[in-house]
Amino acid sequence: MHLQEIYYSEPVYRPPSEAGSLLIQVTEGCTYRCSFCFANMKKFKIRELADIKQDMDSARKIYGADVRKMFFLDGNAMVIPYSKLLELTNYAMSLFPKLNRIGTYAHAKDILAKTDEELKSLCNSGLKIVYIGIESGNNEQLAKAGKRVTADEIIAAFHKCFRSGITPSGTIILGLTGNDNKQAEQHILDPEGLAYEHIVDTADLVNRASPVHVIEEGSLPVWYISCLALMFPEGSDVARDAQSGKFIPQTSNGILREMKLLIENISDDVKNCVFRSNHASNYLPLKGRLSRDREKILSDIDQGIKHPENVRPEFLRGL
Ligand SMILES: C[S@@+](CC[C@H](N)C(=O)[O-])C[C@H]1O[C@@H](n2cnc3c(N)ncnc32)[C@H](O)[C@@H]1O
Ligand code: SF4
Repeated sequence: MHLQEIYYSEPVYRPPSEAGSLLIQVTEGCTYRCSFCFANMKKFKIRELADIKQDMDSARKIYGADVRKMFFLDGNAMVIPYSKLLELTNYAMSLFPKLNRIGTYAHAKDILAKTDEELKSLCNSGLKIVYIGIESGNNEQLAKAGKRVTADEIIAAFHKCFRSGITPSGTIILGLTGNDNKQAEQHILDPEGLAYEHIVDTADLVNRASPVHVIEEGSLPVWYISCLALMFPEGSDVARDAQSGKFIPQTSNGILREMKLLIENISDDVKNCVFRSNHASNYLPLKGRLSRDREKILSDIDQGIKHPENVRPEFLRGL
């Protein structure tokens, strides 16, 4: 490995599906400060174009011209102004002509800040997938998490991506509301509780974000929804609240019940959607197309609920 020749600002984080991608540090940190997030601990900066290009040049020397996937770090690299982002995607394509896709994390508002034409042009120059944090479809929970976006804005960002040809991949945080179950039986999600509301509203967001609302039936694109289970990164607000007892973490059983409720409430209109819970934070790694594999996913979750000894143990979960 010659990683020392390419600059990285540690810690580096990327989606599980970008495991084989060439990672290029284009920003550091994030312009937002969500209460749960590990990405906002660094001071935000957009790196100099010349430095980023130099890293791509080094990568070309190290890995050759056959790189197929590239991922732009860090937390919300999509915040970079359009012309600079375009210069970077074009430069990447010129160095690596076999690049199938460039991906990046994007806050929904970073998408909304760009015009449809700009997004189309970025897509044409290689930006094919953006990872958008949904976290919750419940506006109160979004506000509480400091997300500075509403459910309607997240949906608008998904629709904008579909119209431009960029694939959106959304992440949902199970356990975001903690364990507010006031019932004696701790293994039932309280229908009056915050967790229940969080999940039902999140399913509603997924239903409304579906491309069926903006793209013709014959050309519906594939898109992605992933679940993560809330983690408590050191230094984050949620970690502090959990330590002080202000926030009671959801149980592993409650997390699986939230995932089950979510899948049950996603409508059949959600077409071509790949569902995943393959992030290391999850108790049960699952993958399938919602419209085709719903029953199998639900039965796997049921197995996890019935046999807690088979779910991923706490010490193997991680960011
Ligand atoms: C690095 S963030 C980038 C997302 C993008 N900036 C946005 O806000 O839309 C990727 C995702 O990791 C997830 N994440 C971050 N901190 C987490 C935590 N403590 N526990 C579980 N998931 C977390 C959230 O779903 C978040 O959207
Ligand atoms: S979730 Fe996204 S927007 Fe929020 S702090 Fe993390 S990286 Fe930034």
